[in-house]
Amino acid sequence: MQLKQALAAAITHLTTDHVPSPRLNAELLLMFTLNCDRAYLYAHDERELTTDESARYDTALAERSRGVPAQYITGHQEFWGMDLIVTPAVLIPRPETEHIIETVLELTTIKPIGQEYLPHTDLRILDIGTGSGCIALALAKELPTAEIHVTDISPAALEVARANAARHELENRVRFHQADLLEGLNLNAFDFIVSNPPYVGESEEDHVQLEVRKFEPRNAVFAGPTGTEVIARLIPQARAALQPGGWLILEISATIADATKHLLNNWNDVTITPDLQSIPRIARARKPQ
Ligand SMILES: C[S@@+](CC[C@H](N)C(=O)[O-])C[C@H]1O[C@@H](n2cnc3c(N)ncnc32)[C@H](O)[C@@H]1O
Repeated sequence: MQLKQALAAAITHLTTDHVPSPRLNAELLLMFTLNCDRAYLYAHDERELTTDESARYDTALAERSRGVPAQYITGHQEFWGMDLIVTPAVLIPRPETEHIIETVLELTTIKPIGQEYLPHTDLRILDIGTGSGCIALALAKELPTAEIHVTDISPAALEVARANAARHELENRVRFHQADLLEGLNLNAFDFIVSNPPYVGESEEDHVQLEVRKFEPRNAVFAGPTGTEVIARLIPQARAALQPGGWLILEISATIADATKHLLNNWNDVTITPDLQSIPRIARARKPQ
């Protein structure tokens, strides 16, 4: 079968199975199967697929049709311009999480009153619930002199984060810790603590996309009955581990925005900013001096 015929058949197949963006998915999985870029697909659209290529393409399409996210099939997701490995042990990094990086970069250029933070120098940063390592690795790339620590409760997630650090030659920049939030770790005096913690409530489960519910790690998505359970434990632990004047930056959802504000009521400079869809997304707060 020619490449263009395989692509057309795949689009029909994915459309019939109600897979969103069928052309994009069909192209992505063909690029994955042939290990090529999009330009190749259209420059060589009359090339015959080998039997092995056809079989591998069919397998990838069947996985996508049963709802497996394309990123778990290809094993890759881009975040902050970095190609990251993803497996079903980690949440697929989302574009809105990049707002955490933007917020840290914005704050490193502001000198807190009465303190000598020098932008990009000697910063200590902790990422709680690192998953694929996306936030920590983006910050390691942007802030070449920062000391960066990450935690995750999942050893399998930490393995993926380590692989991503090695892939981007950042393994010497990041220290990995397996822990339930910060419990049992003697870590403190951070300038920034960042986290995209689990924040979906089990009561909201019906509103969560089926693909997320079925294929992404449950403990990465759901925090407990209301969605605030992890954040409620994280906020006091972060406060103890920040240095005075240090910043806590959290990814949240609209559902827990009010509760998060309440939990941050004895912090300074509490602000919640929206993402590109105008959904409250990033909470920032400063530990009092
Ligand atoms: C929403 S995912 C975020 C992953 C990654 N930081 C990102 O933004 O894509 C939450 C992560 O927190 C981890 N996690 C869940 N509960 C935790 C806990 N009590 N302590 C540490 N990590 C936890 C999960 O294993 C998961 O990797």
